[in-house]
Amino acid sequence: MGLSGYRAILSKLPELKTTFLPHLVVVNAENAAEDGLGLLPEQYHGLREAGVDVVTTGNHVWEKREITDLLAAEDRLLRPDNYPAGLPGKGWCVVEGEGWKAAVVNLQGRSRMASIDDPFSRGKELLTRLSQETPLLFVDFHAEAPEEKEAFGYWLDGVASAVVGTHTHVATADERILPLGTAFQSDLGMCGPEGSVIGSDPEVSIRRALTMLPLRSEVLDAPACIHGALVTVDAASGRALSIQRLRV
Ligand SMILES: [Fe+2]
Repeated sequence: MGLSGYRAILSKLPELKTTFLPHLVVVNAENAAEDGLGLLPEQYHGLREAGVDVVTTGNHVWEKREITDLLAAEDRLLRPDNYPAGLPGKGWCVVEGEGWKAAVVNLQGRSRMASIDDPFSRGKELLTRLSQETPLLFVDFHAEAPEEKEAFGYWLDGVASAVVGTHTHVATADERILPLGTAFQSDLGMCGPEGSVIGSDPEVSIRRALTMLPLRSEVLDAPACIHGALVTVDAASGRALSIQRLRV
């Protein structure tokens, strides 16, 4: 969220990688731009150079026109797959490492969000296809409503290795492994300024609540906190072994 969150990833990721030795790093960057809306091509490249393997996004991905060409060209830059056909980009990719292969999938919910295509049927269809290639399947479900997010987790339980939510900017304390072996957390929370209202200046949010005026949010200029999750998975079966919340 904003330059504060973006810079936190650039500066802290190398250390986090040394500590946790992840095989795969996925970051949602749909709010990385200075105004918190969308991301710019140089930010995508910056994240990749810092060690991010796959960049996912969400509803704000369309805000910066500069990113459109990159969405079509970059295999590792995803946008929710269930947007209407014909838009640039896609919501999945396959990453290969030494002796392993994993797929990352990006889908978006519809509850209290734009009424795009059904993520449930699209998700099942996509994951079923990708599971022919690898059992390691990681899903970023960009959605608002806890009910839709939990339902989505159970819908893909036993198919996906992990289903984690993004979009609300507030981390939930419900990380767990579902009955058939899928790691789940409703929302990872943001990498963004501490002391903010979902990344924005609290004063503006309060004034908006008091006046009901359509005041524009301003990204708070403050040091960031990184939120996320660390998931370990059995490489042969694709089932999750653990999920741990991260707050740095
Ligand atoms: Fe979003």
